[in-house]
Amino acid sequence: MGDASGDTATSAKKQMILNAFVMNTPGHQAAGLWNHPSNRTDEYNSLSFWTDLAKLLDDNGFHAMFIADTLGAYDVYRGPANFVPVLASGAQFPVSDPLYLVPALAAATKNLIFGVTASVTYEPPYALARRLSTVDHYANGRLAWNVVTSYLDSAARNHGLDEQIPHDERYARAHEYLEVLYKLWEGSFREDAIVADRKTGRYIDDDAVQAINHEGKYFRVPGPHFVAPSPQRTPFLFQAGTSSAGNDFGGKHGEAIFVGAQTPELLRKTSDNIRAVAQKHGRHPDHIKVIAGVHLIVGADDEDAARKEVEFKTYANTEGALALFGGWTGVDMSTYDDDQDFRLADDNPRIQSLISRWSATIPGTDNKPWTKRAIVEFLTVGGLGVKIVGGPAKVADELERWFEEGGIDGFNLAHVTNPGSFEDIIAYLLPELRRRGRFREVGSGREGATAREVFLGDNEFTSPLSPSRLPPDHPGSKYTWHAGQPPPKFDNFKT
Ligand SMILES: Cc1cc2nc3c(=O)[nH]c(=O)nc-3n(C[C@H](O)[C@H](O)[C@H](O)COP(=O)(O)O)c2cc1C
Repeated sequence: MGDASGDTATSAKKQMILNAFVMNTPGHQAAGLWNHPSNRTDEYNSLSFWTDLAKLLDDNGFHAMFIADTLGAYDVYRGPANFVPVLASGAQFPVSDPLYLVPALAAATKNLIFGVTASVTYEPPYALARRLSTVDHYANGRLAWNVVTSYLDSAARNHGLDEQIPHDERYARAHEYLEVLYKLWEGSFREDAIVADRKTGRYIDDDAVQAINHEGKYFRVPGPHFVAPSPQRTPFLFQAGTSSAGNDFGGKHGEAIFVGAQTPELLRKTSDNIRAVAQKHGRHPDHIKVIAGVHLIVGADDEDAARKEVEFKTYANTEGALALFGGWTGVDMSTYDDDQDFRLADDNPRIQSLISRWSATIPGTDNKPWTKRAIVEFLTVGGLGVKIVGGPAKVADELERWFEEGGIDGFNLAHVTNPGSFEDIIAYLLPELRRRGRFREVGSGREGATAREVFLGDNEFTSPLSPSRLPPDHPGSKYTWHAGQPPPKFDNFKT
């Protein structure tokens, strides 16, 4: 059987998927905290930092290390095109390519899955297909790909564009991009293509590989795929995007969707919507996992956690936090006064909607003004998402509430310090979640299970080819070239 992505036979309670959310940079979401004693992200360019972290997560039963990525600096604040505010805090600058980490981390671990973000907007599909297949080989199928369309003007400019491709067109391109990849991954090599027969001296049969001859609106790729089929062929597909175009893309292609948590009620709407879109595309609604991002500050008890939060805030870097905010929202806060109450910033509905979401998650903030300082404090140890601070019982209660009321499958746990936040989660929270039957025991997953086996398990929807392969209700599975069958004919992409 696959493992703990859903109900288990031994427990009546649904168990949580828990991933560690990280980035290959000194300052992921907590600007200035790179300098905290429990933080080692200043060693992010040393492989031993990453292997230590991967082993820590693997030894303690985490499902995955989920690695964010961007392709340009956050340069909106005090902008335009001003990258200086991110420099002191290392706020998502510099950022190294996450994909190169995976083979080394897979070799150092047994079960941990590696979810790597890669954008479909700036790299041709043929090239990314090759990179992902290569890494899926060396990770023995423990690779997940977080498909993003990117959101920074700085990335567009550095890839030769004057500005970003318009939002919905990025998703239209992304749909065609995935069509190309399915053709390359699933349809250019027959299932039994590689024989490597030393007796006959034949590596691949002449009729077992075909060109894909893709000619669409955005891409022209004759193929075939340049890498032999990897254990999952199509790596397990994560997606993160919250707009209607984003949800439509995720509901069609995504196998796990990463959403920013707001309130359990809003989360329920989002997860219901994602499952409804999946169903519209002919997929089983339970066959798509919804994972919410959350920041935890966990201590030995509530007081210890509150003390940690206060201490973390002393390391906050205001310029870095505002630079991250500028990149995430496109809003340059330098144009506003320090004591402006942003609840009343009716010139900017984007800030107002963020603030009303934040207020809803923090008790006692309903009647307080949201000044620039309050926003900075919120962002510094919580990013844009929800933050839960407390001892084991309080945090576990809250996670269970979000899990149940939000109708989700698990959490991406963001850090304030790395590895400090994960060490606290391991010391204080995981034993409590296990006591409640909400988190898998160490060693309960099959060693070496692929990403798709870990997240989807082995159930009635599993591919008859292998639980590591796209399930039959996934749109990519119709491109598969089965053994004993003629090559599939591909319609060219139509918009
Ligand atoms: C929780 C979450 C995590 C994301 N992580 C990344 C990331 O690591 N890199 C990236 O380029 N975009 C990331 N995105 C951005 C999305 O891929 C997408 O480009 C952006 O949200 C705009 O699309 P949308 O309007 O559909 O949300 C993330 C979005 C969400 C909601």
